[in-house]
Amino acid sequence: MYKSLIRPERESDQAAIHAVHASAFPTPVEARLVDALRGASRLTVSLVAEVDGLVVGHVALSPVTIAGAADGLGLAPVAVLPVHQRCGIGGLLVKESLAAAAQLGAGLVVVLGAREYYGRFGFQPAADWGLMDEYGGGSAFQVIELRAGAIPRGAGLVRYAPEFAIVA
Ligand SMILES: CC(C)(COP(=O)(O)OP(=O)(O)OC[C@H]1O[C@@H](n2cnc3c(N)ncnc32)[C@H](O)[C@@H]1OP(=O)(O)O)[C@@H](O)C(=O)NCCC(=O)NCCS
Repeated sequence: MYKSLIRPERESDQAAIHAVHASAFPTPVEARLVDALRGASRLTVSLVAEVDGLVVGHVALSPVTIAGAADGLGLAPVAVLPVHQRCGIGGLLVKESLAAAAQLGAGLVVVLGAREYYGRFGFQPAADWGLMDEYGGGSAFQVIELRAGAIPRGAGLVRYAPEFAIVA
């Protein structure tokens, strides 16, 4: 594994963060989503991974609402520059973002992604708690509880920030 530094984003990182998402995902939609979340002041957690002084990865967490209450965060997007993938950087970003969310007092974090990947961090299928996402993610929609009792049982739909409309 590389030695990398995970730290909060700085203003000077914005172009590099955009470039990370634009390179890692097939389309620039996720890069634009991060810009839109930042513009709406909804980048609750925004961490970069630095290797040799260069930004090579980024993770964003933004508020979600569950049954009208706002007590959770959605992890999206997370990306690592292709040449730096499979070195543990994505895992560090996810773990540090969960620690930052807990520090902020968030009760839970949801994610839409591969079970094999997010399961290793403790995410569980959100459907087990009676939660679903707006995009029909099925078992890819997962949740992790950061504060005991914070996941509402059977609360139904979890809504991401309005900026996510550009992804749908
Ligand atoms: C997902 C991503 C951030 C992981 O970053 P990374 O630095 O490669 O992650 P790590 O090195 O910590 O972990 C790599 C492991 O995750 C696995 N992995 C990565 N993406 C996966 C996926 N979509 N499904 C299942 N496993 C996945 C790799 O196979 C590897 O497994 P191994 O540890 O058994 O070898 C990176 O692959 C990426 O930027 N992908 C493109 C953008 C993307 O799809 N983001 C996630 C959207 S939900």
